[in-house]
Amino acid sequence: MEGARNPDAVRHAELVVLTVPACGHREVLRAIAPHVRGRVVVDTCVCHHHARPGVWVGPAEGSAALRVRRALPPTAAVAATLHAVSSRTLRDPARFPPGDVPVAADGPASLQAAAHLLDELGLPWVDAGGLEVAAVLENLAALLAALSDRHGVHRPAARFLGLPAGGSKPAADGDRPPALSHRGWPPSPRA
Ligand SMILES: NC(=O)c1ccc[n+]([C@@H]2O[C@H](COP(=O)([O-])OP(=O)(O)OC[C@H]3O[C@@H](n4cnc5c(N)ncnc54)[C@H](OP(=O)(O)O)[C@@H]3O)[C@@H](O)[C@H]2O)c1
Repeated sequence: MEGARNPDAVRHAELVVLTVPACGHREVLRAIAPHVRGRVVVDTCVCHHHARPGVWVGPAEGSAALRVRRALPPTAAVAATLHAVSSRTLRDPARFPPGDVPVAADGPASLQAAAHLLDELGLPWVDAGGLEVAAVLENLAALLAALSDRHGVHRPAARFLGLPAGGSKPAADGDRPPALSHRGWPPSPRA
């Protein structure tokens, strides 16, 4: 693992994943915007109320993901996902199941890159649609955090019923289909 200043890290990145809190989001976006040409940027930000973690405070742009889209040049593609996936789940998805991990993306390239990342992490993903649905995903993450607090459990997870079968959980390594074949792939055409 290597460290670098944000602009340098982005310039050399295959995929950019933003994991900064809402208070630093704008500043980081300003710093990386000139360097993300041709990159896919995956955002994970949920704008929680600073004193009440289960309460979502929608930013002026409508959602953190739309803020990213607005802050970056059109030559960068943007996806938003992992909003409700904790570090514990990332370390051990079998012990702390994530439920379905929705992905919002501004087009096929960003969906494909985010889905590939989630496949690599062993997380079952769902194509949730365009970036305009990210506000709902960010809200859902806040709700799950609130439920976790209220009921004193590790973060509860959401499952979506009635979607096409074939990817509600990652296949075992031996019979894992090619990347991007989980539920939701191929993506439906977007306007
Ligand atoms: N924690 C979770 O379970 C979880 C789950 C899903 C999504 N998220 C989202 O992931 C993001 C990070 O959450 P977190 O809990 O990991 O937060 P965090 O521990 O407070 O911050 C993560 C890192 O962001 C950098 N950072 C902090 N404040 C910053 C600022 N003002 N400006 C620029 N960089 C700053 C720091 O990196 P350096 O030390 O390198 O400076 C810090 O280590 C949030 O947007 C959150 O909504 C979190």
